[in-house]
Amino acid sequence: MLSHENIIVRSLQSPDFNALLNYLHNLSAETKSRFGPHAFDAASVIQFYNSNDNTGFIATEPDSHSIIAYSIIKEGILFHDKNRLNGYQYPEIEKDACTYAPSVADYWQGKGIGRLMFQQILIDCRKKKFKRMILWGGVQCSNEKARQFYQKLGFITLGQFEYNGLNQDMLLEL
Ligand SMILES: CC(C)(COP(=O)(O)OP(=O)(O)OC[C@H]1O[C@@H](n2cnc3c(N)ncnc32)[C@H](O)[C@@H]1OP(=O)(O)O)[C@@H](O)C(=O)NCCC(=O)NCCS
Repeated sequence: MLSHENIIVRSLQSPDFNALLNYLHNLSAETKSRFGPHAFDAASVIQFYNSNDNTGFIATEPDSHSIIAYSIIKEGILFHDKNRLNGYQYPEIEKDACTYAPSVADYWQGKGIGRLMFQQILIDCRKKKFKRMILWGGVQCSNEKARQFYQKLGFITLGQFEYNGLNQDMLLEL
């Protein structure tokens, strides 16, 4: 657990699912359009976490206990990203890799919560012996905020690809 200005970051558990659905439901259309590892209904969330490969992390606000940020780490890389990622001249890109997808509630964006949550996630990933982190489906090139965020965390750019617009693959050695 990591605390910063009373905000708690911890792993997601099944009793948190209703609060998570509430969090997802309240995201703006803009944030929803940027974050899409799973659909935002109960059945999809349950199915997603039936896989042991996926770990959720949440940040909660102390007064309301409501979720203010949610991130996912998947062990390995996404099946449909494999060919593209292996096309980069990067040695053993899949070896000990994990895949990362962050989100922060609109009101809390730009206040250090994404970075705070990432610090906790890094601790967990290093414990699990992951050696590199790749973005979930890359980042949309139009998403300047997220691209700056990843660069600040030390991610490097692998290359760009077209999928509903221009996207960028990024990687961090852990
Ligand atoms: C991207 C996201 C996870 C970042 O989390 P955050 O809590 O807003 O970011 P932080 O406040 O921790 O900022 C960390 C760094 O990110 C960068 N950053 C954050 N907001 C930024 C903005 N509006 N413009 C440019 N850079 C920004 C800065 O470099 C900042 O470092 P600094 O504080 O030293 O300047 C969050 O904004 C978000 O959920 N966005 C919508 C969903 C999304 O895009 N997810 C990623 C999909 S690939």
